[in-house]
Amino acid sequence: MSQQLAPVSLGDIQRPVAGELELVAEELRRIITADFPIIAEVNEHLLRMKGKLFRPTLLLLSQRASGAEDARTVTLAAVVELIHLATLVHDDSVDHSVLRRGMPTINALFSHQVAVIMGDYLYSRAIIELVGLDDLVPLRVFARVTNEMTIGEMRQLEAHDKLAYDEAQYDELIRSKTASLLAGACEVGALRAPAPYREALGRFGLRLGMAFQITDDLLDYTEREAVTGKPSGLDLKEHKVTLPLIAALAAMGPGQRRLVAELMATPDPGDQLVAAVMQLVETAGGLDYARRRALEQAQRAEAELEILPPSAARDALRDSIAYAVERRS
Ligand code: IPE
Ligand code: IPE
Ligand code: MG
Ligand code: MG
Repeated sequence: MSQQLAPVSLGDIQRPVAGELELVAEELRRIITADFPIIAEVNEHLLRMKGKLFRPTLLLLSQRASGAEDARTVTLAAVVELIHLATLVHDDSVDHSVLRRGMPTINALFSHQVAVIMGDYLYSRAIIELVGLDDLVPLRVFARVTNEMTIGEMRQLEAHDKLAYDEAQYDELIRSKTASLLAGACEVGALRAPAPYREALGRFGLRLGMAFQITDDLLDYTEREAVTGKPSGLDLKEHKVTLPLIAALAAMGPGQRRLVAELMATPDPGDQLVAAVMQLVETAGGLDYARRRALEQAQRAEAELEILPPSAARDALRDSIAYAVERRS
């Protein structure tokens, strides 16, 4: 980054759009309401699980920073959170995760069947809202992005030769499964802005999304679940190869690589084996490397903001970069 990163809180970033974010939460409740008993029950649980609302925040700030007047913004911001929520419900089922936002996941509390159906319910509710706006442009962006995200989740599942999984494949994976939605949020926020602003914000969201996912993958190694609200060490338990491991493998000797191979060959690796590999990854410099890569993406995100006129919203977008790479949850 061009300046030293100062600690930034989520509240700092959200301040310029705090009023609208409250409306987004209400809009979300309105959109997902259903009178079918199990769906209503799951909805209540989902609404109690409070997330960071990072994507709606980006959408609202992008609108503000690009000077795009758009009366539909609160609905669009609710839609982007809804798409995110649908992917989380499916992702937790795919990842066999039992904890999300500090609460039991839908697959843990109900069942995998309910998680599959609810993910589809939430996603299709998002589409109904978009169609109701009678404008193909945001529909086109979000349709493309959600399709890209499913390909990303499939890429992850299909990473067969774990030890040969490389950084280029990882970049492609995080771009599709995560960065695409953050890019879409920024682009849709600026839909009515001049094309150069809209395009720069799309690129900003993409770089920010890459930094965000690298940081998420780091937190899986470094942070306790009481802080993140998600299980820690789950990526290795699930045989997921993320950047810290990819970087560390390159620096490991044959004996150390054998331990990693053993973990990957163990169907349900125990805590001790997972902890031993986590330690190896840290010692081999995997965490430091991933931190550097996150900062490099962050720097590229920051450069995209230069085209925008100075404003409190632009400052908040800049702060969101620091937040994305420094956050602990
Ligand atoms: C989690 O996203 C999924 C990733 C892309 C890493 P967030 O970290 O934004 O999750 P919530 O919405 O705040 O729970
Ligand atoms: C991101 O991947 C999930 C999506 C983009 C849906 P992860 O599997 O790492 O996300 P968490 O850690 O479960 O939130
Ligand atoms: Mg997951
Ligand atoms: Mg993760």
